[in-house]
Amino acid sequence: MEQALKGKHIVLGISGGIAAYKSAFLLRLFIKAGAEVQVVITPNGKEFITPATLAALSGKPVVSEFFAANTGEWHSHVDLGLWSDLMVIAPATASTIGKMANGVADNMLITTYLSAKSPVMIAPAMDLDMWAHPSTQRNIATLESYGVEIIQPGAGELASHLVGKGRMEEPDEILKRVIEHFSQRDSLRGKKILVTAGPTYENIDPVRFIGNYSSGKMGFAIAEEAASRGAEVILVAGPVSLETRHPRISRINVRSARQMLEAAQDAFEECDAAILSAAVADYAPEECCDTKLKRENTDGLTLKLVKNPDIAATLGDKKGNKILVGFALETDHEHDNALKKMKSKKLDMIVLNSLQNPLAGFNKDTNQVTIIKADGKETEYPAKSKKDVAVDILDELESVIN
Ligand code: C5P
Repeated sequence: MEQALKGKHIVLGISGGIAAYKSAFLLRLFIKAGAEVQVVITPNGKEFITPATLAALSGKPVVSEFFAANTGEWHSHVDLGLWSDLMVIAPATASTIGKMANGVADNMLITTYLSAKSPVMIAPAMDLDMWAHPSTQRNIATLESYGVEIIQPGAGELASHLVGKGRMEEPDEILKRVIEHFSQRDSLRGKKILVTAGPTYENIDPVRFIGNYSSGKMGFAIAEEAASRGAEVILVAGPVSLETRHPRISRINVRSARQMLEAAQDAFEECDAAILSAAVADYAPEECCDTKLKRENTDGLTLKLVKNPDIAATLGDKKGNKILVGFALETDHEHDNALKKMKSKKLDMIVLNSLQNPLAGFNKDTNQVTIIKADGKETEYPAKSKKDVAVDILDELESVIN
């Protein structure tokens, strides 16, 4: 681990929580690993740890105010944001997290965050009730959608002597995540990846449609993981209530399978790989009524459905040496059906979701998959969060794309 961060510029943001005392250890670890560190501390942070300690450890004056107290010199948050290769905010208090999520730029730490061109990681630290509060969780979700990496707090005894989740991750673990970040970040740089996600809606009339329960969570997790490894991602999303603001994700919203096909075909031309996680409707009404269908007009109703285009198979037909990854969600003969699908759609890899496992499937935060590759290699993974499943899928993709 020695000098693993050599030449890296880290902005260490410290906000006002008791865990700020651990920031000195974290700073020491960054410096020992070879990083150059600029500490930015909030006014409350200074109540918990002195700038003198942090300046001595970092070898640089600590930035806290918009203007230096002695010289009146203006501290440029823009310059700091450009200098930064990574911004790590540890501890990130509920207040700082709330300000970050809402752009409340009333101190130097938040202005630096808003100006930062680099990736940002936060290590939250607070009491268990504050951490569990819906407003904190909503702010965390917002920051995640901005591409901020959250180093989850651990559970244990807190400064209040209450026991629960909210304890800032230990400095050596944060250091590990930072080293991992720099070693992984570039693994897909220069690659362009198409991801389809969510359901499609097929209109019956102006107020009704045929849809399915897909939430898009798996596809969004894949898009974010690919972007965090440096890939440019084109995310073609069906109607979902998810957000993503990762700077390397371009999102195209579609509704029907035909719209998804059109967007995916265009995007695929400029991509190196496509991961098709959308739950595309197999059929659509032959005709969509311009006006709302009236119940009085008929005793019963027969809808004539026509087959939708198969996006995966269409892309498979002109994939050349691009990599194509599909999904299979099967209720019976899972394995055989997945293999057949991989062949018929010319996929390089298929991700089989097990419906036998209660932790897998639509609208859940977890999934359990087996990844089968065209060369016959097969790996069955345990149930994990969709975020972690995305890591496995991207690891497998990297093994064939490079
Ligand atoms: O629906 P099916 O089980 O055949 O889907 C398997 C894979 O094919 C999935 O990756 C899905 O996104 C894709 N697919 C598609 N277009 C369709 C149907 C499925 O791209 N019309």
